[in-house]
Amino acid sequence: MKRTHHCGQLTKTDLGASVSLAGWVDSIRDHGGILFIDLRDRKGITQVKFDPQDDAALGEAAAQLKPESVIAVSGTVALRPEGTANASLPTGEIEVNATALEVLNRSEPPPFPLDDAGGDKVSEDLRLSYRYLDLRRPKMRRNLEVRHRATKAIRDYFDSQEFIEVETPALFKSTPEGAREYLVPSRIHPGQFYALSQSPQQFKQILMVAGVEKYFQIARCFRDEDLRADRQMEFTQVDVEASFVTREDIYALFEGMLKKVWRDVLGTDIPTPFPRLPFADAMNRYGSDKPDTRFALELVDFTELFKTSSFKVFASTAASGGAIKAINVKGLADLTQGELKALEDAAKALGAKGLAFIKVEGGEWKSPIVKFFSEAEKAELSARLSLEEGDIVFFAAAEWERACAILGRVRLDAAQLLVKRGKLALRDDDWKFLWVVDFPLMSYDEERGGYAATHHPFTAPVPEDASLLVSDPKAVRGQHYDIVLNGVELGGGSIRIHQPALQKQVFEDVLKIPADVVESRFGYMLRAFTFGAPPHGGIAFGLDRIVALLCGTQSIRDVIAFPKTQRGQDLMAQSPTPVTPKQLKELHIATAVPVENG
Ligand code: AMO
Ligand code: AMP
Repeated sequence: MKRTHHCGQLTKTDLGASVSLAGWVDSIRDHGGILFIDLRDRKGITQVKFDPQDDAALGEAAAQLKPESVIAVSGTVALRPEGTANASLPTGEIEVNATALEVLNRSEPPPFPLDDAGGDKVSEDLRLSYRYLDLRRPKMRRNLEVRHRATKAIRDYFDSQEFIEVETPALFKSTPEGAREYLVPSRIHPGQFYALSQSPQQFKQILMVAGVEKYFQIARCFRDEDLRADRQMEFTQVDVEASFVTREDIYALFEGMLKKVWRDVLGTDIPTPFPRLPFADAMNRYGSDKPDTRFALELVDFTELFKTSSFKVFASTAASGGAIKAINVKGLADLTQGELKALEDAAKALGAKGLAFIKVEGGEWKSPIVKFFSEAEKAELSARLSLEEGDIVFFAAAEWERACAILGRVRLDAAQLLVKRGKLALRDDDWKFLWVVDFPLMSYDEERGGYAATHHPFTAPVPEDASLLVSDPKAVRGQHYDIVLNGVELGGGSIRIHQPALQKQVFEDVLKIPADVVESRFGYMLRAFTFGAPPHGGIAFGLDRIVALLCGTQSIRDVIAFPKTQRGQDLMAQSPTPVTPKQLKELHIATAVPVENG
């Protein structure tokens, strides 16, 4: 029984046609002996009618069917009786009167309902254990299709811009920059390891030395990081590099790509160019280097005001070079004790010593700290925060970046509380793209007691600042940019260093990587740069994150066919697993934990 149509295809124009369909039994309804089966394939649903009056044996066979079994049916297309049409289905006006049935495979009862609403109610672990069933749900199927559409739009776009896709190795070498790596033992080189590529960064730069000029790749990357909703150990980048480009060229190139993706996938026109926000402004105004600019709720700086305050907590922070920041959340003075505690806990997790606040209720300021404030201080707070009945103001006093980050967290959490109260609307399809620019090239790492590259060590300094590289690294701006959408870091990149002497200086004199380590890890790259490396730059986007936003989901696991759990496990295939002592021996590996016999 070869299928003649798919299950989303038949309409009134097919009345009387003899057809064959194949798919899964979506549901079975028994109307006094007459069975209605909704037959489903990837394209849709068609109602199939088995009437025992027409064919008793066929009716009996249909009565044995269970949901999710795979069947093929033949029959005639007929109009549904008056008043029984289903306007929400493209096939809703017709049904197929079955004349033959073939059971291709039976199904066990699925462990959870496979409709969108039912599947959303069960635990994600259960869905991941039976991912093949989860992926039968309409919304998961749509997510896979959106991912395909987006990927195709990206490939078409770069092709139209004369970029070529070049594959680079997943098995690379261990290099000391960036995230923790996955190591792969070599069987033929005892005691030696490959590292899985965290990104094609070094290869794409080498491709520029090779004269490729315009490279892109949809590349799988591997990072041994703590997993979150927006982080997987194995994820996909849209990776790009080009020669003889400026930052402006990269901005325009990527705005064009995103415009095409949004148009092809959603039919939406996103306005370009995107706004640009210097890193310092992003932190000062939104408390984040990936601000969600769909709403204002901006931070206000009161460091100057409190320098001479009698509130010691603020005065001492201001005196020691820290910052005092405040945020006025209008209409949230009615927050519960539990909500306040949750905000405080989130602030403390970022290193806040406390989360001082002022509520305006019944015309009065209610606050544990207001007794310390002078009349002048109160007047300035009131004016600059436009304080009104129903407001609540939160304060953070800490080192500048930390104070910003604390209130940045409070800003996001408070916005959610306002959304819950119907006082703020945040739409998934209110697309607020922006470039964050002017990052410092280096950040000081207190723990390590040294400088680390803010982005990665291949990022070029802004030319005017290059002379300060060794004497005052933190004053040097990098030619680095991030692209942000609705509070999500979609991607980042930079113009690179292409002069071997400057790259060596960054490794050895700023990052203080010993010369022999630089030689063993990056020597090949420095050597490549001595053979005519063109100036170049690029960017990488998180494809999983872009697709998650296009699908309106918070979790990238929803747009990856077979993701790992937060604990790095594949619950379906069940990995990781122990391996046999024989396998370990071949790899010259001894483990500190016992392994299974094999
Ligand atoms: P970066 O490390 O910023 O840059 O990565 C670029 C983008 O990749 C995505 N991303 C992730 N997505 C899911 N899970 C993860 N664990 C994960 N880690 C990163 C993010 C991020 O913005 N080679 C440089 C780019 C360059 O300079 O050209 C790089 O990898 O969306
Ligand atoms: P204390 O004097 O420590 O009892 O603090 C008074 C109020 O200020 C309390 O509500 C604390 O939560 C808050 N607080 C203390 N330290 C800070 C800080 N660094 N930033 C913001 N609020 C703080």
